[in-house]
Amino acid sequence: MTDFSARAIANPNIAFIKYWGNRDPDLRIPANGSISMNLAGLHTRTQVTFDPHLQADQLTINGAEVQGPGLQRVHLFLERVRQMADLELHARVVSSNNFPTGAGIASSASAFAALSLASSAAAGLELSTAELSRLARTGSGSAARSVPAGFVEWLAGQDDESSYAVSIAPPEHWDLVDCIAIVSQTHKQTGSTVGHHLAGTSPLQTARVADATLRLERCRQAILECDFATFAEVVELDSNLMHAVMMTSNPALLYWQPATLAVMHAVRAWREQGLPACYTIDAGPNVHVLCLEAHAQEVSRRLAEIYGVHEVLNAGPGGPVHLV
Ligand code: PMV
Repeated sequence: MTDFSARAIANPNIAFIKYWGNRDPDLRIPANGSISMNLAGLHTRTQVTFDPHLQADQLTINGAEVQGPGLQRVHLFLERVRQMADLELHARVVSSNNFPTGAGIASSASAFAALSLASSAAAGLELSTAELSRLARTGSGSAARSVPAGFVEWLAGQDDESSYAVSIAPPEHWDLVDCIAIVSQTHKQTGSTVGHHLAGTSPLQTARVADATLRLERCRQAILECDFATFAEVVELDSNLMHAVMMTSNPALLYWQPATLAVMHAVRAWREQGLPACYTIDAGPNVHVLCLEAHAQEVSRRLAEIYGVHEVLNAGPGGPVHLV
């Protein structure tokens, strides 16, 4: 170890088969496996410096100092890294996102993936991809999937050791594009950590989880065979199932806005008319519309015309977390 400092970059990811609900909330062992694609061009860049002069961990995000629960979450994560590296120094964490702040794109996946690599490297650890993915998972479940490259599957597992993500195909395997329709710039009402706790209160969660293995199989196969029709069917089904669980949990979570629904209807109509595209929605109102590169311009143009869509961002398959 030379200077206790390292910088890393990670992409966020969009889940095709969703993670919603934990078997073990403390370790973030998910109720079911999930599949996603890293989003090229969008990233979190994070520098971690372990410094003997610091009295406590410090966190800056997009130029603003963070205190309270945000800092506490990062502090707990760093405790794990210090324990792994047998290190006692506090750290300064400086992080920034290149995607529009408040655009409603989940940043916790790219944030904890970048933090895993930057903090472990700064502490002198050389972790394998699986080890990094496990570590990232403890910060935010979906962050486990931002560690490996391209198209990724998070193997649910049953314990810390067996729950991590692997790449199922490199970024260049399939020219899929995520056209992200931004319909709201406001922060989501209920964050995913709380949402995962509520999942089990929905009578539909058991059915969703019971059937997840089949959907994972279909989605993985569709990606490997670049079969867009099968992919579109299983991706929309899985998103609808997750939102059915959200809407029927106690308290109920309803993330859709009128423009969310307008985009869903439009995408289904386009597909029937022969424009291959499908939607998927996370814990917020924005809609991720997936299509092949050849149709991305047309899909984005049409999305921008829908009332309530403020902006459309495009992202293809991204690479793994890496040091810079
Ligand atoms: O990693 P978390 O706790 O932010 O949960 C992510 C939850 C969803 O984005 C809704 C689904 C997913 O698999 O990414």
